[in-house]
Amino acid sequence: MDALERYEPIIDDFEAFRAACERPLPSVVRVNEIKATREQVTEAFDAEGVEWESRDWNENVLKIDSSPGNTWPSFHGWTHGQEEVSSISAFALDPEPGERVLDSCAAPGSKTTQLGALMDDDGLIVANDSNLGRLSALRFNTERLGVTCVAVTNQDARNFSLKPFGIEAFDSALVDVPCSCEGTIRKNPTALDDWSLDHIEGVAGVQKGILRRAIQATKEGGSVVYSTCTFAPEENEAVLDHVLKREDCRLVEYDIGLQSEPGLTEWQGDEFDESIRKAKRFYPHHNDTGGFFCAKLEVGA
Ligand SMILES: C[S@@+](CC[C@H](N)C(=O)[O-])C[C@H]1O[C@@H](n2cnc3c(N)ncnc32)[C@H](O)[C@@H]1O
Repeated sequence: MDALERYEPIIDDFEAFRAACERPLPSVVRVNEIKATREQVTEAFDAEGVEWESRDWNENVLKIDSSPGNTWPSFHGWTHGQEEVSSISAFALDPEPGERVLDSCAAPGSKTTQLGALMDDDGLIVANDSNLGRLSALRFNTERLGVTCVAVTNQDARNFSLKPFGIEAFDSALVDVPCSCEGTIRKNPTALDDWSLDHIEGVAGVQKGILRRAIQATKEGGSVVYSTCTFAPEENEAVLDHVLKREDCRLVEYDIGLQSEPGLTEWQGDEFDESIRKAKRFYPHHNDTGGFFCAKLEVGA
């Protein structure tokens, strides 16, 4: 049995799903509104002979016929190559300018820089990652895209300390955890080569710790967005169910103009909290994207 076959009972039109997973991913960029407007970017693409097309759900997400990093607008930080579904988490969090936001697992910074743009580069984003080697890419991207409201930290997000910042809590947090990456198979055809249930169960333990700490570090009434790029319920709904039982928080709805399926309330005999239906599963055959899971929580009941 291959890794994805276990999802046949929960995915509609499984053959279409399998076929989509085997197709290469479209090349997509996000317009970086800190440095350029959509019009400036599309004019530059036209001048360079790059074909582009806005995605229906967001006109600042453009599908192009060139490699995302090989264009003049990318070189100047006007665009950022970011898988379409990867932009969902920051849109779901929807931070305001001036807020203090924790990005628990931030490298290489696609979502950090998107949060910065949504906040008009005004406020504080603490972009944390435990992997020192990945922080240079995070710094490079924040500099290239002109995001100046970022402080980079190198902590284990399971024990994240607020001490260096002299604040009691963040206004909101983005928790884009390490995962088994099953949903990245279109971008990286070897993504499933080392797949194992042991790995899924191991990484789920880390995910639970990271999400719990982010909730504890967020003010009452603040939002926390949890996302993964995997289909595994053990890393998605089961993590949410575990955290709902232990922390003061609840699932809330959010809007995004892409087709999605609700979070599961049952998987292989385990039952999950009914409210987990408010989470969204994004499948490759529905929107011609990678796979993704994203849930929004509010801290305090
Ligand atoms: C899915 S990637 C994050 C992608 C990033 N949010 C972006 O949009 O560019 C997950 C990240 O979690 C980091 N990580 C793994 N374990 C961690 C931990 N215990 N604490 C903090 N970061 C961790 C990894 O180094 C990796 O960079």
